[in-house]
Amino acid sequence: MSEFKPQIFSGVQPTGNLHLGNYLGALRKFVALQEQMDCIYCVVDLHSITAQLVHDDLKSQTRSITAAYLASGIDPVKHIVFNQSAVPQHAELAWIFNCVARIGWMNRMTQFKDKAGKDRENASLGLLAYPSLMAADILVYRATHVPVGDDQKQHLELTRDIAMKFNLDFAKKIKEIGKGVDITVGDQPVHAFFPMVEPLIEGPAPRVMSLKDGSKKMSKSDPSDLSRINLTDDAETVARKIRKAKTDPDALPSEVDGLKGRPEADNLVGIFAALSDRTKADVLTEYGGQQFSQFKPALAELAVNVLSPVNAEMRRLIDDPAHIDAVLKDGSERAGAIAEKTMKDVHEIVGLL
Ligand code: TRP
Repeated sequence: MSEFKPQIFSGVQPTGNLHLGNYLGALRKFVALQEQMDCIYCVVDLHSITAQLVHDDLKSQTRSITAAYLASGIDPVKHIVFNQSAVPQHAELAWIFNCVARIGWMNRMTQFKDKAGKDRENASLGLLAYPSLMAADILVYRATHVPVGDDQKQHLELTRDIAMKFNLDFAKKIKEIGKGVDITVGDQPVHAFFPMVEPLIEGPAPRVMSLKDGSKKMSKSDPSDLSRINLTDDAETVARKIRKAKTDPDALPSEVDGLKGRPEADNLVGIFAALSDRTKADVLTEYGGQQFSQFKPALAELAVNVLSPVNAEMRRLIDDPAHIDAVLKDGSERAGAIAEKTMKDVHEIVGLL
């Protein structure tokens, strides 16, 4: 091989309801990428037991993320949609990566520090090794591009560190079995079995903030449901949440500069822009000078128009779990076939009999 085949991989955890931030930041991007490359989209159920072991309804959460993928427009026939635990090679490669990665690398991860909190000794070993499983998710398909949020950038750097160490430590074996690809990393030529993944972070995706506090990200764990728009909210709920969103007393500015120091105004304008595929500047040319009492109904109408079809399709799918399960089964089989090939080579490279 002279080059790695371009391949997208990304994953979403089946914990909590998806909201507008996930839709604009991740799902819509996933949908757009389908036109450019082969995509594998995963529901990472094994990751969801790292922070909290026991879940009441993990199966229905997994189905619900799958429903959101499909309702947003991901095509499970041209591309692959499946759940992580159905392809055991993820966990198997993660074990090997646990032996590649160093404890120090894991200890430095900000997500681990945040999630483990003060009592680090009491965090699960799985939470510490989380990035190793994430690297395995990606590299078991030798994926080259990963659309993620800004907060996952550090995990992708670690994925590259793992790939690089594996490639260098096993350089001789990789040559021997003839499955490597000549790449350059910096100026260093490397005969690589695993590619150096590229994050796809840029794009139109805005940072969608809480509707109750423009300085906090919209989050599925915020105790106030009014702080977010869930993909399962019906039209009336969406409109009500926008009506109740926090604002300041001033009119909207005519230029983007005028949004500085006005996080709530900035957020609502950003959401309007993202939902209508326009720039904030463009939105302000139309709405500058207007009061929120005029802008909010326009935003509510737009949000309802964009989200209603997604919402309706999601509800329809959630009521048809047999269909969802069939999609996941088909996806797992196709993903599994790729993963199996990779692991066969990995066994050869590592020397597992
Ligand atoms: N850690 C990611 C998140 O919380 C989810 C994830 C798991 C993932 N494995 C992945 C994302 C592989 C991209 C690629 O958002």
